[in-house]
Amino acid sequence: MRGAKNFALKAIAATILAEEPSKITNVPAIVDVGVMFDLLKKLGADVQPAGERTMLVTAKDIDGAKMDAADAQKVRASVVLTGPILARFREVTIPHPGGDVIGKRPINFFIDGFVKMGAKVEEYDQGYRLSAPQGLSGTSIFFPKVSVTGTETLVMAATLARGTTTLVNAAMEPEVVHLCECLNKMGAKISGMGSSVITIKGVEKLGGGTFDVIPDRIETGTFVMMGIMNNSHLTVENCQPAHLEALLTSLREAGANLEIGTNSITTKPIKGRIKSVSMQTHEYPGFATDLQPIYTLLMTQAEGMSLIHDPIFEGRLFFTDMLNRMGARIIMCDPHRVVVNGPSKLYGRSIESPDIRAGITLLLAAIMAEGKSIIQNANIIDRGYERIEERLKKIGVEIARKDS
Ligand code: EPU
Repeated sequence: MRGAKNFALKAIAATILAEEPSKITNVPAIVDVGVMFDLLKKLGADVQPAGERTMLVTAKDIDGAKMDAADAQKVRASVVLTGPILARFREVTIPHPGGDVIGKRPINFFIDGFVKMGAKVEEYDQGYRLSAPQGLSGTSIFFPKVSVTGTETLVMAATLARGTTTLVNAAMEPEVVHLCECLNKMGAKISGMGSSVITIKGVEKLGGGTFDVIPDRIETGTFVMMGIMNNSHLTVENCQPAHLEALLTSLREAGANLEIGTNSITTKPIKGRIKSVSMQTHEYPGFATDLQPIYTLLMTQAEGMSLIHDPIFEGRLFFTDMLNRMGARIIMCDPHRVVVNGPSKLYGRSIESPDIRAGITLLLAAIMAEGKSIIQNANIIDRGYERIEERLKKIGVEIARKDS
């Protein structure tokens, strides 16, 4: 598997915390990572390739007023840059961040957290200006909802704050834990990562870091479910099965035949069909919302009825409409809940991908469908999956890209 998008993007932001160069290895060649590096360059950092999948970043002087609004609106993770910039350079402008159309995606937890740490906030038509001329101060911050980027941003801001910061109801995702471990190697004093309370003792300075991007658990889950949907023998290598306990538990309950190695997962054909298993998404270690669309598709091929409940974002189930156009039988109960009736035969259609995860789901649906499908807006899949068509061709999928 390639390196995890949702770690790589935060590692890029973290390089701003040090004056010295930092190295990022196992960088995935995906669009969002390219946009994040572009943002960093426009802010004044020096970004250089340093070997295969390796980048060297030196963020000696960063001008926080130069956040490129157009780029920032392309990736949600741009908002994470604010933590390190505010902590080290004491002022930053945040254009309203963009990203997937999966819900409202507010940034109030970031703003409220910075204000609690002593920053002044000014709102302007395109975003916010934040400043902390005396530097940030440690404090206790409670997250009303678990937020992955919120936790990562405030952890980074707190590494250079005066005194101790405690983040309560913090995210526990493997990417958050790995980020904290990398920051500690740079000289930060972070403890409690992987639990819901993270404590950060501020230090004056951090040294350059080395960020080895961990395997992408969402990509892993995607390909494992593809193997099951097609009832095929497929080995997903270079992954961390331990990061996918919730998914693997549901898949086993559904009757999938899985062989789990230390760094690999193999799907094996079964006789008959998998069974329907209802699922609710949850913050880590629960079932990842990013795997929900693919799991929902899988349930269209299972025997029986399942309820899929995704309380995290309010727009993540609307893509099921497109699966219905292909022949699925999915009933939307409310924006957070659908009932899937399986199994359904799927038929090729022309469909449009609304976001990264729904996009890959429609692509997997097209692989199973009878006849030809056209995925419009397919470049959205490139935001999170590297050279998807080349990799699918290697395992026998007939797929071609047409530039629009
Ligand atoms: N929320 C607020 N206020 C905030 C921040 C978040 O109300 O200031 C709410 C959100 O609206 C949502 C909930 O908190 O209801 C959780 O959102 P979270 O902040 O955790 O999401 P995120 O950090 O913006 C990251 C991933 C997403 C992934 C979610 C949940 C990155 C760049 N993105 O988003 O990944 O779905 O965590 O695990 O890390 C993807 O890769 O396709 C993707 C969308």
